[in-house]
Amino acid sequence: MTAKFVWMTLVLGREQDIQFGLLLAASQKWTHRVPWMSTTRWDKAKVAAIAQELKDKPGALMPVLRRVQDELGWVPAECVPIVAEVLNLSRAEVHGVLSFYHDFRRDPPGRNIIKVCRAESCQAMGGVSLAEHIKRRLGCDFGHTRGDGSFTLEPVYCLGNCACSPAVVINGQLLGRVTPERFDAAISELDENLL
Ligand code: FES
Repeated sequence: MTAKFVWMTLVLGREQDIQFGLLLAASQKWTHRVPWMSTTRWDKAKVAAIAQELKDKPGALMPVLRRVQDELGWVPAECVPIVAEVLNLSRAEVHGVLSFYHDFRRDPPGRNIIKVCRAESCQAMGGVSLAEHIKRRLGCDFGHTRGDGSFTLEPVYCLGNCACSPAVVINGQLLGRVTPERFDAAISELDENLL
């Protein structure tokens, strides 16, 4: 499995990234607002139950990891041995998939999750300056969560909304033709502590 996985990710990695990003962006569960403190605690029994429920699906690893992220908002590193044992995989195989896809969060997210498309079409339509504005506005960089847990800022690479570039996802809601002003208006009511 490992050799095949490596080959597929080398040859098809870009396409898979896009497809997987679209898949996750379409998921309403894990992009919803997540209570900050609750995300730092997680239930090992719940992870084991998810793995047990999905273990007989073809290619069960991805569905299991996705469900864990849906349920917890992130995939703690401590999940690796639990999932590996239930799926009868090596820890290295589970860790390899978990670390390959950047869409899997390794840390608990903030209460609001902002995704900004950084792919070509959006970049060509003002996405670069929009991204800079969003970083300043939120007070955190891509891949980071504000210290107060109010926002997590994540890059994505094509949301399938290129005709309405630049595109942003705010707590699971896709917005197109986003300007700095539209972004500010969209987040103005999300968190009263926003800078
Ligand atoms: S490049 Fe941004 S939505 Fe396609």
